[in-house]
Amino acid sequence: MEPENNSSQGGGENENNDTPRRDFLSKIFIVLGLGLGYGLLAVEGLFFILPKRKKLPTLKIYAGRLHQFKIGTIKTVYDLEGSEIMVKRDKTDLKAFSSVCPHLGCRVHWEKEKNRFFCPCHGGVFTTDGVAIAGPPKDAGQRLKEIPIEVDEVSQIVYIEVRKPKRRAG
Ligand code: FES
Repeated sequence: MEPENNSSQGGGENENNDTPRRDFLSKIFIVLGLGLGYGLLAVEGLFFILPKRKKLPTLKIYAGRLHQFKIGTIKTVYDLEGSEIMVKRDKTDLKAFSSVCPHLGCRVHWEKEKNRFFCPCHGGVFTTDGVAIAGPPKDAGQRLKEIPIEVDEVSQIVYIEVRKPKRRAG
């Protein structure tokens, strides 16, 4: 004979009502457990199927000496694959931007007289900080890709961080 356990219900009258509730709760826990189990399995499966995103290897390369970057101007340098990088120097800092338009990849160039970067393909206009202010890149909330740049305080050499080129076979 099983001992009565009425401590939580306060009487035997509720025992008949508890059984369907317990069954219902058991089913809920079983369904939740199965859902969680299959969910985790699905997530693991996705991680297995999808390729891992690896950070591409980069290199710091010489871009010039600081005095070669005049305040208030844009100077073009090149990465190891020959792509243009536009370096802007103002009174407080140095910034570098890829010349590849974030819209569809045309080449952006500096328009000194208008103090802006311009993409002729669809009329994309960017501020000196690379923020799109007109054309499709503005509508898409895009900006020019910023390239990491630093100055060695001692040597006054400017370095940019660029993608390491892939090795060619043969
Ligand atoms: Fe530059 Fe379209 S590719 S605005």
